Amino acid sequence: MRVTAPALRAMKAQGRKVVCVTAYDTPTGRTADGAGVDVVLVGDSLGSVLMGRSTTVGVTLEAMAHHVRATRPGVGRALLVADLPFGSYGASVAQAVESAAVLVQAGADAVKLEGRYTAEVEAIAKTGVPVMGHVGMTPQSVNAFGGHRVQGRDGGADIVDDAVALDQAGVFALVIELVTAEAAAAVTQAVACPTIGIGAGPHCDGQIQVYHDLFGLSERTFKHAKLYGDAGSVMSEGMKAYVDEVRNGVFPGPENTF
Ligand code: KIV
Repeated sequence: MRVTAPALRAMKAQGRKVVCVTAYDTPTGRTADGAGVDVVLVGDSLGSVLMGRSTTVGVTLEAMAHHVRATRPGVGRALLVADLPFGSYGASVAQAVESAAVLVQAGADAVKLEGRYTAEVEAIAKTGVPVMGHVGMTPQSVNAFGGHRVQGRDGGADIVDDAVALDQAGVFALVIELVTAEAAAAVTQAVACPTIGIGAGPHCDGQIQVYHDLFGLSERTFKHAKLYGDAGSVMSEGMKAYVDEVRNGVFPGPENTF
């Protein structure tokens, strides 16, 4: 059965952990969906993971729509959520509603935005598009934070405050990124919607990880991520073998030849 936003929100009351993964195309979306994740997020982290940039702020709405279209065919059961990128919702409520519509028309089931944009959440939800929130270290504000720094070391009262406001505005779930485990636990207790942690400890209602970080395909490694298979090494070794075989006249062999 397909995962819906209301069903996902209800998972908190049912005590069921929410499993989410960021993916950007059909092959990765398909393996995540096939493994039974609840949410596939087409995240604006594609700016760093796919485009090699140091932040997500250069990612455009058009790029997000392109990757939603690229991921949709692989995702049949999970809820497909798409990030509203920097510059696509901060100017006005009308801009936020229009940008959300672009991503839904590209194939997203729901959208995610970063920060305390409660009027935008309410307005997008009013058009029939479920909205996911995102608090803590919100990467689109990296320049204001002065880097990708862990938040909530002061107890996290401001993060709880933002989370409660977004919960009341109607988000169906809330990502908490790079926050102390204690602050994430306080947020999780304070809101009715499920909290989805990344670098936010074990007390969240669910977890999200970037596909490429789970399988050794990212340029960097992160304390918040765990390697579930070193596909990066397998691919490097395989690529070297291909290079050698072509150079040495081994590939293509008779079995590859018509
Ligand atoms: O862009 C992304 O992949 C995200 C997740 C890490 C939450 O926002």
